[in-house]
Amino acid sequence: MLALAFALAALEALAILVLLRNRKRRKQALLSLRETLSLLEQRLSTRTESWRQATDILEQAEERHRITTALLNETKEYLNSIINSMPSIMIGVTPSGHVTHWNAAAELATGIREKQALGFRLHEIYPDLPVTPAMIEEAIANSEPSTQENVKVEHLNVVRYVDITVYPLHSLELTGAVIRVDDVTLRQKLDSMMLQNEKLKSLGELAAGMAHEINNPLAAILQSLQNVQRRLNPNHPGNQAAAKALGVDMYQLHNYLEARDINRFLGGMEGAGHRAAEIVRHMLEFSRSSSRQLEPTSLNVVAHASVEFMRSAIELSMPALHAKLTFEEDFDISLPLVPASGIELQQVLVNLLKNAAQAIQEAHREHPLIRISTRLVPPFAEIRVEDNGIGMNISTSRQIFDPFFTTKTVGQGTGLGLSISHFIISQRHHGRIEVTSTPGVGTTFILTLPLQQPTHAPALAGH
Ligand SMILES: Nc1ncnc2c1ncn2[C@@H]1O[C@H](COP(=O)(O)OP(=O)(O)OP(=O)(O)O)[C@@H](O)[C@H]1O
Ligand SMILES: [Mg+2]
Repeated sequence: MLALAFALAALEALAILVLLRNRKRRKQALLSLRETLSLLEQRLSTRTESWRQATDILEQAEERHRITTALLNETKEYLNSIINSMPSIMIGVTPSGHVTHWNAAAELATGIREKQALGFRLHEIYPDLPVTPAMIEEAIANSEPSTQENVKVEHLNVVRYVDITVYPLHSLELTGAVIRVDDVTLRQKLDSMMLQNEKLKSLGELAAGMAHEINNPLAAILQSLQNVQRRLNPNHPGNQAAAKALGVDMYQLHNYLEARDINRFLGGMEGAGHRAAEIVRHMLEFSRSSSRQLEPTSLNVVAHASVEFMRSAIELSMPALHAKLTFEEDFDISLPLVPASGIELQQVLVNLLKNAAQAIQEAHREHPLIRISTRLVPPFAEIRVEDNGIGMNISTSRQIFDPFFTTKTVGQGTGLGLSISHFIISQRHHGRIEVTSTPGVGTTFILTLPLQQPTHAPALAGH
């Protein structure tokens, strides 16, 4: 019984012990659970804080980006309006020559809209512009602008002169170039006009002295040549007598000269001598003209007299042309008298009419026509000489007023006719002489003379 009670007490004590141990374990587990929970809470709060900070930074960055984009757009607009208001053509290109910018001046000059140009290769959309991909590459590689001056550009049949500069562009991401094209046609025209006047002025100064110096020996050469030809004439009694006295047969001598072509050479010498004399005569016109007075002159009378003179000259020298040629005269009767030198104006008109006749003869027209007309265009009087001859290309028409420029064969022209005409009209009459011509169609010369001579004004611009 005692043993049983003891055993029961021990069992109870054991149960209490087990119970105590379990409670302790649970308590420990609870504790560690709480710790883990608090750790998790801490981590979550740290994460939330850093996420909030990141969102803040992102929002700020987004705002900065928005402002920068707006500023960029504003700057782009501003730059575009600057570029578009420039009179120069500005074309932006990539190194491979693809267009990135195309300003308003480029649109105006080429007729190509910005939309049609952007992204395309420059030399494909605007082949008339002499800027090759090689030039763009070179400017970029050398990091130096390259410039070409007074470049002739023909676009849609209009010829202009331009200065072209290729500026290389270097930035961090982008490399390319800006091509700037400036129209210098007017400057070129003024330069060539001034050069022309200078040339004629110095030619005029030279002419007087030179003509006299050359004239005398030339006259002696021609005179002696005539004597030689006369003294070789086998039919001349004096020659026959002199030859006989020396035991020479004059006809044999003549045959020898013919067989050795000597008479032909002498003829050539004579022709060349006369040509030289003609040049000297033309050159003397420069110096002579400055001494003549301008007086009230009827342009219609001078024009008609010039036509009559040329009509008979053509009849003699170009009979075949004369048979077919029509001279059309269309005179403005309201034209007042104009201060001019009639002799000089006639010289100019004869030069123009002679050129017209020669150009027509070369064209072999079925209906050759020369038209001369006058017109009152206050404060100027205008004379036009039109022909349906061979015409001339741009390169020829740019040189025709240069002294000694001629396209005619030796003996046909001295190349002084138009430069003298230019001198007479621009220097002596303060007028203008202009030409328009189409190859294969014909040519028109326009003389513009002031109705009143300026007292101290310079000559009219242009030629
Ligand atoms: N009406 C025209 N049609 C076509 N070409 C012309 C005409 N007038 C002038 N020319 C061209 O201009 C050039 C120069 O003319 P310019 O009158 O000065 O000299 P030229 O006629 O050759 O010689 P020159 O007048 O001294 O006998 C000519 O050679 C010709 O090529
Ligand atoms: Mg001529």
